[in-house]
Amino acid sequence: MIFGATGDLAKRKLFPSIFRLYERGKLDKFAVIGVARRPLSNEEFQQNVVDSVKSALGDDKNLDEFVSHFYYQSLDVDDSGSYTDLKKLADQIDDHYDLEGNRIFYLAMAPQFFGPIALHLKSDGLTDVKGYKRLVIEKPFGHDLESAKELNKQIRTAFAEEEIYRIDHYLGKEMVRNIEVIRFANAIFEPLWNNRYISNIQITSSEVLGVEERGRYYESSGALRDMVQNHMLQMVALLAMEPPISLTTDEIRSEKVRVFRALRQIEGDEVNEYFVRGQYGEGTIDDKQVPKYRDEPMVDKESNTETFVAGKIMIDNFRWAGVPFYIRTGKRMKAKSTKIVVQFKDIPMNLYYQTEKMLNPNLLVIHIQPEEGITLYLNAKKAGGKLDAQNVKLSFANTGVHAMNTPEGYEKLIYDCMRGDATNFTHWDEVAYSWAFVDKISAVWEKTKGDFPNYQAGSMGPDAADKLLEKDGFFWWPVTDLDVDICK
Ligand code: BG6
Repeated sequence: MIFGATGDLAKRKLFPSIFRLYERGKLDKFAVIGVARRPLSNEEFQQNVVDSVKSALGDDKNLDEFVSHFYYQSLDVDDSGSYTDLKKLADQIDDHYDLEGNRIFYLAMAPQFFGPIALHLKSDGLTDVKGYKRLVIEKPFGHDLESAKELNKQIRTAFAEEEIYRIDHYLGKEMVRNIEVIRFANAIFEPLWNNRYISNIQITSSEVLGVEERGRYYESSGALRDMVQNHMLQMVALLAMEPPISLTTDEIRSEKVRVFRALRQIEGDEVNEYFVRGQYGEGTIDDKQVPKYRDEPMVDKESNTETFVAGKIMIDNFRWAGVPFYIRTGKRMKAKSTKIVVQFKDIPMNLYYQTEKMLNPNLLVIHIQPEEGITLYLNAKKAGGKLDAQNVKLSFANTGVHAMNTPEGYEKLIYDCMRGDATNFTHWDEVAYSWAFVDKISAVWEKTKGDFPNYQAGSMGPDAADKLLEKDGFFWWPVTDLDVDICK
């Protein structure tokens, strides 16, 4: 059951993903009930599904059989009668398709509805099933630790923790999932993966798009809550965690939680020493003039909301003591790019000079998007007589046939949920620790006015983000043209 079935997420991501699973033969027996407030007939809903799949896949497949599995039920979130109708329909469909009483409730809607819906699902009998029941919820999971706790309390009245699948769509990305394999399936990285050999790690997730139509949501969120509390900290945890003793959901989660527990808590005066906030001003992107954030629809003209965050995160444990994890993310930046750069320490003594310049450090770059792959930057001898060194790179690119067959994030996550694999969803403990970390930063930022706008649309963020690294003797490796800059 997809709640919010007429919404943007359902259209853009969920229907196409379900179709891909269907095409790949992963859906043996299934039916989808779309649920939303507005009245629609089954036929109208099915047409929406066809349109969304066609526009996502851009081809003209015959979808008749596929959409015949889709049903629609209009629902008033607070009205028990609506849930009774929904239950009736669900029970009939269950018998018709022989679904063994297995139900997934997918809440693709605003978080204020999560609690009331979960309570009704229970009190109106929709969760009394013969098979499994699972709840999938989208972010934002609360606005801060307090509201997240309240929300969690409400959904826990109807679902056990192991039945709750909190989506962080970054955990569905192929190369985010690859982090643990790169780390734990290679003898050459893990021995170096610590403060003796790594000088710093940089995670950038930059976006070209502005806030678009989401001004209202974004005004109450900002980049810290929108990206750092979830996606950025999840990547930090995967990069920093200890090897799990096995690949079970519980083992991996508990290793991630240990990273969250070791995060150095930044509060009070330290906040502006460790974190930088920004808000975009007007600028040029793809040769087009774009407005500043404060001129976007539904945004306050004096808005104090940050559209950019850079930060230095320290993990105070044995492995990572002294190694900064720098993160930066923002809207209206120069490029859409998510990359992780692991910078290794300089060699103890440099014997090789290349035109009076120090050798570049070794870098391992994990390209999350748009391109997917890894590149290892090394130094090697230049061809010819002298022992001059040059930068070379070893690359693996997830391209061609391989990439075409790679399932999309949502497709993987929906499939995981069907199989009951919650590894790539966030456990309550992770949510709680990450809110506790982020709340201390927003407490300071909400009290003082940012000096906004402080970066131009189309740039890589405010100057202060560069200074954050310069203070430590580092700089951001360019994410857009790393090859050009480093591999001359
Ligand atoms: C979402 C945020 O979680 O992630 C959006 O709410 C952001 O503001 C998006 O644009 C970025 O996701 P991706 O997959 O495009 O990097």
